[in-house]
Amino acid sequence: MRILLIGATGTLGSAVGSALAQRGHDLVTVGRTAGDLRFDVARPDDVGRLYEAAGAVDAVVCAAGDVPFKPIEEMTADDYRAGFEGKVLAQVELVRQGLAHVPERGSFTLITGVLAREPIVSGTAASMANGAVEAFVRAAAVEIAPRRVNAVSPSVFTESLDAYGDAFSGFPPVDLADVAQAFVRSVEGPETGRVFVL
Ligand SMILES: NC(=O)c1ccc[n+]([C@@H]2O[C@H](COP(=O)([O-])OP(=O)(O)OC[C@H]3O[C@@H](n4cnc5c(N)ncnc54)[C@H](OP(=O)(O)O)[C@@H]3O)[C@@H](O)[C@H]2O)c1
Repeated sequence: MRILLIGATGTLGSAVGSALAQRGHDLVTVGRTAGDLRFDVARPDDVGRLYEAAGAVDAVVCAAGDVPFKPIEEMTADDYRAGFEGKVLAQVELVRQGLAHVPERGSFTLITGVLAREPIVSGTAASMANGAVEAFVRAAAVEIAPRRVNAVSPSVFTESLDAYGDAFSGFPPVDLADVAQAFVRSVEGPETGRVFVL
């Protein structure tokens, strides 16, 4: 398949890209500062330009999604708006605008995370965003069939413990190789409306 991979140079995107390439797929990589195509998917106009530039793709995989982490007393309305645009609206627009570019048997695989289910201090925007994307996936799947949409919702990555381990004290981590296989399952399998929890 020809697959559009957003966030391809990141921690998660690198692992997902490797796993998809090993399965023989052709990747079109996307980021704001690196990749085959450079677009900011938090901007709806950029999502449209991205699809025009990418041409025909069989699947869309998102491994990007920025949200601010701060104690709630320090959060502003703009912080929540940035979290919404960076992780929710970006992925919603990839699906909504992608319907015109992805074939009937195509798929979308989005990224959420454990904070949809389990709170951490300073994680309210991430929890909001992850929960919203998971609810969107379940609802959108009903309307976009036979196209499919799923989310992958992992715990903190083993490979990210040095960076985020203190915030996720006591959380069982998950290896990136296992997270990447959930993306492969979503892209290649028949399932839709699923949230793959790891
Ligand atoms: N790290 C963890 O332990 C963990 C656990 C569970 C879930 N997650 C989720 O997984 C996702 C990726 O995390 P990560 O640790 O891999 O992050 P990362 O290493 O910072 O990588 C993010 C990637 O996405 C790209 N990107 C970010 N915003 C973008 C935008 N608006 N438009 C286009 N490209 C964009 C970045 O490239 P540019 O900067 O060049 O745009 C980069 O390639 C996040 O949503 C995160 O919440 C992470």
